[in-house]
Amino acid sequence: MQKFIVKPGGKIRGTIRVPGDKSISHRVVMLGALAKGITQISGCLEAEDTLNTIAAFKAMGVSIKKNSQGQIIIHGVGMHGLQPPTEPLYIGNSGTTMRLMAGLMAGQKFSVEMGGDESLLQRPMIRVTKPLTTMGAKILLADNGTPPLIILGKQDLQGIEYNMPIASAQVKSCLLLAGMYASGKTCVVEPYPTRDHTERLLLGFGYLVNREDNKVCLKGGGQLYGKSIDIPADISSAAFFIVAACIAKNSEILLEHVGVNPTRTGVIDILQRMGANIKLYNQREVNGEPIADIRVRSSDLHGINITKEQVPLAIDEFPILFIAAACAEGETVLTGAEELRVKESDRIQVMADGLQKLGINAEPQADGIIIQGGKIRGGVINSHGDHRIAMSFAIAALRANGTINIEDCANVATSFPNFVNLAQHVGIKVKQLN
Ligand code: S3P
Repeated sequence: MQKFIVKPGGKIRGTIRVPGDKSISHRVVMLGALAKGITQISGCLEAEDTLNTIAAFKAMGVSIKKNSQGQIIIHGVGMHGLQPPTEPLYIGNSGTTMRLMAGLMAGQKFSVEMGGDESLLQRPMIRVTKPLTTMGAKILLADNGTPPLIILGKQDLQGIEYNMPIASAQVKSCLLLAGMYASGKTCVVEPYPTRDHTERLLLGFGYLVNREDNKVCLKGGGQLYGKSIDIPADISSAAFFIVAACIAKNSEILLEHVGVNPTRTGVIDILQRMGANIKLYNQREVNGEPIADIRVRSSDLHGINITKEQVPLAIDEFPILFIAAACAEGETVLTGAEELRVKESDRIQVMADGLQKLGINAEPQADGIIIQGGKIRGGVINSHGDHRIAMSFAIAALRANGTINIEDCANVATSFPNFVNLAQHVGIKVKQLN
């Protein structure tokens, strides 16, 4: 079992670029595979999750290769060019792949089975299968509403208007992707804004999408056109180093070329409200996505309240935000975040258990957590195979007074394969044991 051993203390220094955005990488591979013509991708995340998306499309006959400059080249097969895979598709740990592909596969002429690892096999899928079934899809899933999914082919889909009961970009994207294969118009209404990469990329690949307030719509029967695309660094991976530089003494880091789409920058807004010294430079737009360089300096953080509407904008950053809260003066209260319980692990319980082990007063709630800032001691943490839990506790060691040992870390490779090297490079005293 892979472990991280992290010695306490240290300061953060350096200029780094973290790997490519995971959400955008999945979507570019999917749209590129279905486009007419060639898609050339720079900065694609090559981690287990996105490699599983790539493998799924290769298994359906799409040529996806790397060129000598490290770009990923996809020869799109067109909207109706996918071939039936000869085996079930293995999706690994990736909820995004499973849920977005459920929408795409519902529109195909052939049936597909999709399975995954132990964590993915426990994640709720009815949130996508229910609206897809209303559109006319036929999907079989396990009794408790989890994968494996069997999506039956040759169904006629009809567009629907769907009021999402939860603010989920995965559900929204799944339905928009299915909507490309449906007759008429498909609309999704969001209770709160969620990441909008699917909409931006669909437009970039030449597919018309309309947004009016909190409703996004498209019409079935359109085409996608291949293109060259530069994917920014992932703010969700940058977040570990943003918090690292905030909580460590005498620290300063520059994170280059980070995606700062306003539907993803909740982590920056929340940290700034806590008193963080974070500045964005060189703001620009590349392929319809805002990008910036982010400078972070040591900060005196204080506790705050975080409420429901802020949750989707920082949904993947709560494990590392809880470490920031543990290092802040006073109390941080998070509410309206019950979705954290159905991520790669139950992130409320697993973080509360880990923080308590390190001497921090962290009280889990049904829909959030209450954390009192305090002194962090050393200890042994079980990450429950959740990449973001493992990386968060590695950062916590910067403020600990003893070594933190983190167990079950292999899944860091699902989103951030060079995390340990980059962390060492900027001053974190982490070692990996296999
Ligand atoms: C993602 C959406 C979020 C996020 C996940 C990636 C996406 O999930 O947690 O890591 O790429 O659409 P939900 O839609 O379930 O909130």
